[in-house]
Amino acid sequence: MFTYDRHIQLKNLFEKNKLCAENKDALLYARFEANIAGIYERFLQLYDQHPNATACFEKLLQVIINAYTQRPAALKQRDSEKEKKDGWFLSNEITGMSLYVDRFAGNLKSMPSKLSYLQDLGVNFLHLMPIFESPEGESDGGYAVSDFRKVATRFGTVQDLQQLQQSMQQRNMYLMLDIVLNHTSHQHEWALKARQGNKEYQDYFYFYDNRDLPNQFEQRMPEVFPESAPGSFTYVEELNKWVMTVFHNYQWDLNYTNPAVLVAMMDTVFFYANLGVDVLRIDAPAFIWKQLGTSCQNLPQAHTLLQIIKHCVQTATPGMALLGEAIVAPAAIIKYFGSGNRIANECDVAYNATHMALQWDALATGDTKVMLAAQPILLQKPYGTTWLTYTRCHDDIGLAYDDYMIQQAGYNAYEHRKYLKEFYSGTHALSPARGALFSVNPKTQDARISGSLASLCGLEKALEENNAADIEVSINKIILMQAHSFFLGGIPMLFYGDEAAYTNDYSYLNDNGKSYDNRWMHRPVIDWKKNERTQIKNTIEHRVFNATQQLIKLRKKLPAIADHKNLQWATPHNTHVAMYLRSTATQKIYCAFNFSHEPAYLTWYAFKENTTPASKLYDCWTNTFFNVGADHEYLIIPPYHFYILEVVE
Ligand code: GLC
Repeated sequence: MFTYDRHIQLKNLFEKNKLCAENKDALLYARFEANIAGIYERFLQLYDQHPNATACFEKLLQVIINAYTQRPAALKQRDSEKEKKDGWFLSNEITGMSLYVDRFAGNLKSMPSKLSYLQDLGVNFLHLMPIFESPEGESDGGYAVSDFRKVATRFGTVQDLQQLQQSMQQRNMYLMLDIVLNHTSHQHEWALKARQGNKEYQDYFYFYDNRDLPNQFEQRMPEVFPESAPGSFTYVEELNKWVMTVFHNYQWDLNYTNPAVLVAMMDTVFFYANLGVDVLRIDAPAFIWKQLGTSCQNLPQAHTLLQIIKHCVQTATPGMALLGEAIVAPAAIIKYFGSGNRIANECDVAYNATHMALQWDALATGDTKVMLAAQPILLQKPYGTTWLTYTRCHDDIGLAYDDYMIQQAGYNAYEHRKYLKEFYSGTHALSPARGALFSVNPKTQDARISGSLASLCGLEKALEENNAADIEVSINKIILMQAHSFFLGGIPMLFYGDEAAYTNDYSYLNDNGKSYDNRWMHRPVIDWKKNERTQIKNTIEHRVFNATQQLIKLRKKLPAIADHKNLQWATPHNTHVAMYLRSTATQKIYCAFNFSHEPAYLTWYAFKENTTPASKLYDCWTNTFFNVGADHEYLIIPPYHFYILEVVE
């Protein structure tokens, strides 16, 4: 949209910064013209009444200009290469891994020497868990940041990070880092100044003189860590005030009703962009706007803020995609892709947290009904955006799908969740899983689940009992879970250690800075001796590594697996089997997964319902041809097995 006032403002800004709209900076100018009205409109929606609105808006524009002028030429080049690809992140050729630099490689300097291992596996996209300064012992795994621009000494320096980014770029690998937008550590400079009584910085946070407003807020705000950090406010003794702390008491929530906070954080977003970040993971975006009388999650203003960020990034550093880490209810997650006239114009990528949890549901029940009940919502993801698909990440598994989905499947929601929690925490008599409940809410009995992929799939128990048959089953489960998320559409994100079948690590219990948080049980310290076993045939490590590697290879070979909103769920002819069809004009692939402990019989009719019925299928996973039989005959899928069936005739 063109508006004359913004046009003039932009002209003046270009002049002041000695930029040339007609010639060398023409691309920036074009992008700015396309975005400035959007930024302004949204900025006014949030800050119209704020006394510093005009000055802050001018500052915001300057921040965008600075980001562009400081952007290294190599990254500008990369931006235009990505633009030509039209949705580069939708590709079936990207596979990610999320890892803690220290626990994986020691530090940033040793990371480049591990890239070959990752490339051998097929990983070409790395999410480095937070590496910026964060007080030891009060760090929340790095998500309590005390300096957004200084790499914590134990990881190395910003230069080490830049070197790693360059080595990755040479190898055509992509980089993802976090921006922790919602809060800072209580040791951050802004928090320290606020603590010293500086009013300007007190306005960066939510401070209250007494418990009146905090009490009112807490009536509606769900607790994130009810066990380790109950409540959402913390008393600051020096000031005799209460500060908002939605997560831990050492994580102070930033106050985005103050536009200066947005400007400062936008500058930080660009700092990461200019380090060469390809995807910026926006941590906890659901929480960034608070309003009394609401749950303070998923508010419309949080979306407005994200849209401003998107417009700014599109203007100055367009090659950087945005991932919204919104682990919320299914319908709420979808909105982070943008809705209404902002559809597909907010976050480019979002965690498919719903489907991740549904996979665990299907694995525990052997039934796919709940998974299917959730699909109408998940399929609303707009064209041009994508999921991050995964089975495990550094966080807990939240069973955050809706009760009605469970009810539609014919279960009682409370009992069903109870069963899942008991199953994965290992208290259920028939469960092979070894996990633990995380953040049990004593008031509601809500809980999430911790545990590594392998342990939740039964490997830890099977190894302990030296039970060869159960080891076999757990390996099949691990591979089934990975495969299901690899072909679903989106960027698969492995969690480090899972490729080598790491079971839970209980050493966190001996560390006071971690023992209160059982998510550490599934954040292993890599033992490279163990990982060497990934190269030794018939070891468990090799079997899991090799299968993961083959799955990644296969994904890369199949164009229909790229995410072009080309996913269709098959009619559930067998409730134990999840089957979806991925297709392009020239390729059709049925992906069928048996979540049951028994062989599943799937009528061949399942392959004839499509407009062009299939008569011959090729299983790309086992390299086997199948002739599609009569309707009363079956494709038989062994327990916890799957087929990736390309239609050949
Ligand atoms: C995100 C992170 C999680 C962290 C929280 C608070 O959800 O993934 O690990 O505890 O944000 O920053």
